[in-house]
Amino acid sequence: MKKILIVNILLLILLSACTPQLGRSSDERVIAAMTLEEKVSLLVGTCKDWNLVPEAAPATRHREPVPEGYWDTYQGNTAAMRGKVSGAAGISYAIPRLGIPPVVMADGPVGLRIDSVCTAFPSTALLAASNDTDLVCRVGQAIGEEMRYYGVDILLAPGINIMRNPLCGRNYEYLSADPDWAGRIASAYVRGVQSKGVGTCVKHFAANNQETYRNGIDVQVDDSVLRKLYLKPFEQVVRDAQPWTLMSSYNKINGTYASENSYLLTDILRNEWGFEGFVMTDWWAEEDPVRMQLAGNDMLMPGTQEQIDTLIAAVRSGRLDEAVLDRNLLHILPVIRRCPAFLYGDRTNPDGADLDRMLREHAALAREAAAKGMVLLRNRHALPLDASVSSVALLGKGSYDTYAGGTGSGAVTKAYKVNICEALERQGFRPDSIARKRYMNHIALSYDAQPAPSAWFMPYVTELEWTQEDMTRLAQTNDICILTLQRMAGEGTDRQLVEGDYYLTSVEKNLIRRASQAFHTQGKPLVLILNTGSTLELTDVVGYTDAVLMAWLPGQEAGNAVADVLTGAVPPQGKLPMPFYGRYSDVPSAPNFPLSDGDPNKVCYREGLARPARTLYDTGFGLTY
Ligand code: BGC
Repeated sequence: MKKILIVNILLLILLSACTPQLGRSSDERVIAAMTLEEKVSLLVGTCKDWNLVPEAAPATRHREPVPEGYWDTYQGNTAAMRGKVSGAAGISYAIPRLGIPPVVMADGPVGLRIDSVCTAFPSTALLAASNDTDLVCRVGQAIGEEMRYYGVDILLAPGINIMRNPLCGRNYEYLSADPDWAGRIASAYVRGVQSKGVGTCVKHFAANNQETYRNGIDVQVDDSVLRKLYLKPFEQVVRDAQPWTLMSSYNKINGTYASENSYLLTDILRNEWGFEGFVMTDWWAEEDPVRMQLAGNDMLMPGTQEQIDTLIAAVRSGRLDEAVLDRNLLHILPVIRRCPAFLYGDRTNPDGADLDRMLREHAALAREAAAKGMVLLRNRHALPLDASVSSVALLGKGSYDTYAGGTGSGAVTKAYKVNICEALERQGFRPDSIARKRYMNHIALSYDAQPAPSAWFMPYVTELEWTQEDMTRLAQTNDICILTLQRMAGEGTDRQLVEGDYYLTSVEKNLIRRASQAFHTQGKPLVLILNTGSTLELTDVVGYTDAVLMAWLPGQEAGNAVADVLTGAVPPQGKLPMPFYGRYSDVPSAPNFPLSDGDPNKVCYREGLARPARTLYDTGFGLTY
């Protein structure tokens, strides 16, 4: 009896010694040692939660709500693994017996999005406007350092879809309307992050240029336009920087879902461009898992049990050849081998970084980057502010509650945000106290009446009106008027062609006109600051101003960066990566955004490669002092 036990133990030891281990055996051997269930589980993520499923497009299958308690019993992987980095968007399946660790993936473009405090860098649109690849690379490195500190392996960024239309809700997370510009900045960003030994996930591949019905809309686009414009930045970043992973988009392209599109994912991406990483779906893209695997969409994120069951059944019924799974696993394993999860196991902060110090240094970088990406659109001798300027009539709610970033998966859990008012005060200016009090009260009351801000929601604050009489008093008692206009936007919805969004409201227009009249009567200037992720229609109002500064969504150091540019501490150097159009009708895609012919199933990119007929400020425009 004792002998049998000893033999059995020896056999077990021998067997486990022979079990291939990732990194020590070839990937092929590791794959050959997997059960079908293990293979499929690794090809499907381990789920997170069920609160952010995008609204289904009309043509898309609507998912039934999951029964209560589903996630408690879900066995895709252990809850402990899912909770490894709180707030991370997804995690891959671990197979400890083969030495395969869980890989953590987290958003997003403007800083790491997890539940812990990270640096909120300026919007990527602003980074692109800096046109400074060294700076962008340094921001990427800083994000990479925070990933290593917290144990995140793959950053779900950058988003590099072409800014086809100023109303796209996610333009703040994208880079440019110009494909070469977007490709150049994307490569610098990816190189920066990946130089720290962590991965990127370039998204959303491809033609995801709007939020309306993003998970079902069929983008009808001519092949040569697709390649020359919408695929171009992806091609450049793949060829120049080899991102570890890519995210397929929700939409269809010429009738086929991007995630099921082998022309896109295999013929072009892998065979033509030489992509060496793996492709994952956008979150909850829920088309046919079998077709996704066949097309070369290697990992389905964040993963559902239903997908696992479907894939296992497909292999068992002969609908799907297991060799397809093996091919896709061969794309995934080399990436896992490079991840901190593989190299350092559960150990976070392998570099022994000091968090406080790191966040301080990154805050300084966020400020530098924000200032360098701001674009001076107009200047009639108003800027930089000279020593004679001391008292400031600081108007516009955005001066007191400056937007740092947009909403959605690109939001960041930041430690703080600097408003323009505080920053100007810190630099020795005196904001008008009556205006300040009025705005602060108004903002506080508006916040009290609405749900608390979150990644997906910013309270809406209306703009305050000022009578001509009040304005005259402000002009008499202050040296200058600085007025901030702001717009919020983000993932899930596009912006609207209405007053208060793309168009100015009558309150905003009056504010500008009255300020202009009152301050110019006193021989004092009016400076307009734009705190917005994308452009808006300014054609009728710029003439009233002496200077216009596009400050974008500048991240947590927003106010400081604005003040740095206003004072000339950092001379403006940004250039517009997309145009300000004269009228919305000048936007080439206007007749076909977000739908074509009112059909909720499709959008035709009929404008092809057309350039705008008329712009207020063209791509590449930007002044300096
Ligand atoms: C977004 C992606 C994001 C993912 C994970 C999706 O809704 O489209 O950009 O990376 O969620 O948060």
